[in-house]
Order: sequence, then C-alpha cells, then structure tokens
Amino acid sequence: MQNRRVLSGMRPTGQLHLGNYHGALKNWIELQYQYECYFFVADWHALTTGYEDTSKLEENTWNMVVDWLAAGLNPGVATLFIQSRVPEHAELHLLLSMITPLGWLERVPSYKDQQAQLADHDLNTYGFLGYPLLQSADILLYRSQFVPVGEDQVAHVEITREVARRFNHIYGREPEFEQKVEKAIKSLGSRNSAMYRSLRKQFQEKGDADALARAQALVEANARLTVADRDRLLGFLEGGGISILIEPDVLLTATPKVPGLDGRKMSKSYGNTIGLREDADSVVRKLKAMQTDPARVRRTDPGDPDKCPVWDLHKIYSSAQTQAWVQNGCRTAGIGCLECKAPLIEKIVEEITGIAKRAEEFEENPDLVRGIIAEGGERARTVARETMEAVRQAMAMNYR
Ligand code: TRP
Ligand code: SF4
Repeated sequence: MQNRRVLSGMRPTGQLHLGNYHGALKNWIELQYQYECYFFVADWHALTTGYEDTSKLEENTWNMVVDWLAAGLNPGVATLFIQSRVPEHAELHLLLSMITPLGWLERVPSYKDQQAQLADHDLNTYGFLGYPLLQSADILLYRSQFVPVGEDQVAHVEITREVARRFNHIYGREPEFEQKVEKAIKSLGSRNSAMYRSLRKQFQEKGDADALARAQALVEANARLTVADRDRLLGFLEGGGISILIEPDVLLTATPKVPGLDGRKMSKSYGNTIGLREDADSVVRKLKAMQTDPARVRRTDPGDPDKCPVWDLHKIYSSAQTQAWVQNGCRTAGIGCLECKAPLIEKIVEEITGIAKRAEEFEENPDLVRGIIAEGGERARTVARETMEAVRQAMAMNYR
C-alpha cells in the first residue's frame, strides 16, 4: 500500500558481516520496494557506548553506507541518510526527554544487560540511559508505521509507543476539537469523507486494523490537508485528541539463524564473522575451518546436521536437493565435512565477491556516495521539519 512508512537504523560498528546481511539488510532490500522506506546510520547511537574513541566513526559510517549500496539498497527508491546530519533527531529527543519518566528507561531490559555485558565501558551516562528514547525520536520523527527490527529491539519500539501516547495525551488536546474534525472531514470531499467515516466506524466498532490502516493511508495521501488537520483526522480515528506522533508497530520478519565460525551466533564481539566484502581466499579458509558437529570426530563417524552450524548455513544457501544430500550423507557418514562444505563455500564466495565487486564502484567514487547521502538527508529533513513544526505547534512553542 502506498504511503506506508518504514524506518530503521543501524549503528556503524564497522564492516558488516553475513549476520547483519541475513539478519537485517536483506530484509530492508525487500521492504524498499513495498514501502516508503527511510534507512539511516545511527551514528549518535554509536556514541552512547563508544564515546571515548570516535576516531573510527566516520570511516565506519561510510563503509556501512557502501555495504548497504553494494548489497542492494537502492537510493532511487529508499531514503538513505545519516542521523547526525538531521539535527531534528536531537531536538525531538530533547523535547521527549521532558515527558519521559526515568523509570521507563531504567526498566528497558537492554539497559542493565548491556551495562553488564560491556563492563569494560563506563555506561553510567545520561546518553546511554537515553538510548531507547533517542531511538523513539528517530522513529516518531518520520511518523513511521513500521519498524523492521529483530527481537532484541522490540522493547525499544514498545517504549516508543508509550512515549507517543504520552505526548499525544499531554499535547494533543485542543478546544473545539470535534468541530475542527468535522470541518476537516468535510474538506476531504464527499466521496473520501464518506469513506473516512465508514472506515473509522469499522475500526472503532469492530477493531478492524485493516480499516484503520486504510483510513490512515487515505488521510496521509491527501496533499491538500493542513498539517494540523491531518493530525486531527489521524487522532480522531483512534481516539479523542490529535495524534501528533504516530504509534509504530514492529515489523518482525523471520530471519534465519546465522551461525558464526565457532557455532555461536555470528557477531563482531565474538570475532567469528565472515565479512560482507571479505576476499575469497579468506572466506574459503575460514569456512574450511568452521566448527562442525563436535561428535563427528572421524570421517567414518556419522554426524547430526541438527548439531552442526554448517547445516544452518545450508538452510540459508542451499537448494532442497543439496540439503537432502547433506542430511543423508552426514547421517550415514557417506560424505566428509569438507565435501559437505564445498557447495556452501561456492555459494557464499559467489555472493560475497558479487557484493565486493559492486562495492568497488562506490569506493572508487566517494563523491557518488556522499551525493546519495546528501540527497537522502535532504529528503529526510523535509519530513523531519514537518513533524517538528507540528510538535512545536502542539507544545505552543512555534513562536519565532
Ligand atoms: N538500536 C538499533 C540497533 O541497535 C539501531 C537503531 C537506532 C534503530 N535507531 C533506530 C532501529 C530506529 C530502528 C529504528 O539495532
Ligand atoms: Fe556438519 Fe556437513 Fe559435517 Fe554433517 S557433514 S557434521 S552437516 S559439516
């Protein structure tokens, strides 16, 4: 459906690996053709844990953008930008911080978890506590309906919904709301206003979420509405006040488990990754040495793919036919582990060399990449400014 907005971000932690690719990026690449997508480098978020050494931030940022482009994010359809280039993120974060109870932030599970995990960093900072709120500002600034993220980020989207609700509750009241809504509905034109009323009724009486989504799209698509009227109409769909900020939903997508070379989850902090643009020799070497079913000591021992991380990779990369060959060969000791890895190595090398080749074009042409990001930043700012206009107006702070 047109005009349904998706937003997501990634911290610039350095070269992306296959875990990032299958866990998020591939999904973004599909979403960009289905939704109006905003994807950004969360460089301010990187600061919340990495504030001491900022020397790699810029390099990591551009490298990640090149990874995105080489993997297939298309700046012709998706808006790609850098968080810190859109200062409205900081303004909204600040304003939201005024209404956010400390307890909400302290209760987010990642707060204590990460502090414990990154014990070598001092994370007793204001910025780190505010991590989820900065993320809320990212999301709410674009009035995105959907946020594609993994399980670990669900709590952050949840707090975003609470913050939006609280903001709308505090600042979304105005005298003569109902009359203003009536006028706004009439201004939609007779056909659309009838449609709006009937969809609203379906949602209010039957909880029909699809009707709500269609009504929201109808409002969003109307270019002649003023910002204030649009917010009134959106708010009236769900309740009795203006909806200045929109409560987003998580777009949970089934992502495959991507094992690292040692069998644990692929993650930079475990040092068990295969880089998205790693050279072929090194990929081959790493995969040949990759952990297999530990019970399969000798070539003649039968193995169990369910206990083997290589099998998890086969599930991602191999055809049904190859998978059947692995299952049978492994369980009967008909094939050796190196034999089993061969078709996998071929597929992964092919994928990675393709990405590395496309990356070359961007690496040789840094101005092209900067241009893409500058243009994305402008597009993002246009939306961000509009939201901040509405936010300031609602807070009676639009004085000049
Ligand atoms: N916290 C996210 C992560 O670590 C990154 C992020 C920052 C993000 N802002 C966001 C994701 C807004 C989605 C929406 O993966
Ligand atoms: Fe793993 Fe394949 Fe070896 Fe079986 S044959 S243990 S699936 S690498």
